[in-house]
Amino acid sequence: MKDFNLILSGIFFTLAASFGGLLISSEVQLGSLGRAPAEEGGPLYPAIETGLAIQGRQVYLELGCVTCHTQQVRPAGQGNDIAKGYGPRPTVARDYVLQTELLLGNHRNGPDLANYGARAKSDDEIHGHLRSPAAGSTMPAYNFLYTVDKNGVTQPTERAQALVAYLKSLRIDYNSPEAKLKQ
Ligand code: HEC
Repeated sequence: MKDFNLILSGIFFTLAASFGGLLISSEVQLGSLGRAPAEEGGPLYPAIETGLAIQGRQVYLELGCVTCHTQQVRPAGQGNDIAKGYGPRPTVARDYVLQTELLLGNHRNGPDLANYGARAKSDDEIHGHLRSPAAGSTMPAYNFLYTVDKNGVTQPTERAQALVAYLKSLRIDYNSPEAKLKQ
């Protein structure tokens, strides 16, 4: 019986130490990570989201866009994300330091959106795509985010406007200490 307790406490301490070690080593590596300037003396990145983009992030969460879209660009050599134009550099942990709900995603049905703001065209075009995605696309049409006014003109709701502001705020086209843009 004495041995049994010893074995049990051995198992407990081994598990506790490895679990604790995992948490502590992550905290030591990433806990103090903050924003950093893209060039000496410049503004800090990632940029703080504006009010409308913060609301739009909530809409993105509610509508489950993360089930089909990732926001993480893999380094060259671990995939062809950069060659596909998803971003000019891989994403790094620092890119997410301001986010309380991480929207990295783990399933990619449509393009990665980490740098969508840099390639997005006009607001009208983004609204047009949300109402009617590309032909044959698996992306649902988000028509319920739009209303038709008394003149028969389609108008975006506040949620649609916020969602577009959020999509336009997604950018990684600046230097990060861990991932510089190619000159
Ligand atoms: C069922 C999967 C699916 C869901 C859910 C989905 N999308 Fe998509 N999305 C796609 C696919 C596939 C494409 C590529 C074809 C196209 O443009 O329609 C795409 C394309 C896009 C693009 C264009 C990207 C580019 O690089 O041009 C944007 C922006 C976008 N989606 C935003 C959203 C937002 C915002 C939501 C949530 C409101 C959403 N998607 C939900 C599958 C999805």
